[in-house]
Amino acid sequence: MGQYPEFDQRLIGWVNHIKAQSRAGVHVPSEFVSLDYVLHDIRLYKSREELKLMRRAASISARAHQQAMRICKPGLFEYQIAAEFDYEFRKSNAVHAYSAIVGGGANGCILHYTDNGDPLNDGDLLLIDAGCEVEGYASDITRTFPVNGKYSAAQREIYEIVLAAQKAGIRKVKPGNHWNDPHNAAVRAITRGLMEIKLLKGSLARLIKERAYRKFYMHRTGHWLGLDVHDVGDYKVGDQWRLLEPGMVLTIEPGIYIPAKSKGVRRKWWNIGIRIEDDVLVTRDGCEVLSAAVPKTIQDIEALMAG
Ligand code: GLY
Ligand code: MN
Ligand code: MN
Repeated sequence: MGQYPEFDQRLIGWVNHIKAQSRAGVHVPSEFVSLDYVLHDIRLYKSREELKLMRRAASISARAHQQAMRICKPGLFEYQIAAEFDYEFRKSNAVHAYSAIVGGGANGCILHYTDNGDPLNDGDLLLIDAGCEVEGYASDITRTFPVNGKYSAAQREIYEIVLAAQKAGIRKVKPGNHWNDPHNAAVRAITRGLMEIKLLKGSLARLIKERAYRKFYMHRTGHWLGLDVHDVGDYKVGDQWRLLEPGMVLTIEPGIYIPAKSKGVRRKWWNIGIRIEDDVLVTRDGCEVLSAAVPKTIQDIEALMAG
């Protein structure tokens, strides 16, 4: 209601049409009830058939990400990698669920980068956030890997922090935990990791309370996933975080972004932008990572890229 003015006009038109017949004893509706909430709640719990489509979307996207890792090398352009996703998706009768982000080096630190036009340089990372949809059902996957196939020492250190945060977030996806548990776990792991490499200084509890991590991790850890990539559904019930229940699907996508010239940050960390994102289904006794087929440990990614 109120989202499609043309439809709202038609609805009022129908009511007026009925009103015109009221003297003939026709009952005129006196209330409008918004069904958004009911519909959104239905969309939150995926049926077996819906999950089939989401698994298929995740597996097509996973294949495209693997292919991108295989073909990537210095000298290619971001759009050439992006084209692999177009091809892999269309080949399977799928389409992009959102504009793909293919960002090398400094571009990996730009959260909504979609120009995808720059060359990929030796020594840089490549951040790819791309996912397809199948019959309307979306997938949403991010991986970050070295253009030349080998993470540098500095890239490795940041990568391991983001990976630990992502795993900590996924461990919290289970029935009975609430919506914000994975985010809290990821924030804790990122803050601890940034303290270990001295990018944050102070006590863990204080840094979390003061949200010091936001200098490097400025977005949330996920969102509902379904017919929309940022799907409908309440995140809170009243003023309490929603409890996770079997059949819900969400993303877990922590990141660390360190643009060049970041104040108080040594040059060796500059232009490292890393996000790792998976699609996670809440199951009866925990969770299932629908996008698990894309490698995400340093060892597995380097092995795939080495061919
Ligand atoms: N690709 C959009 C998102 O990660 O939320
Ligand atoms: Mn996402
Ligand atoms: Mn994404």
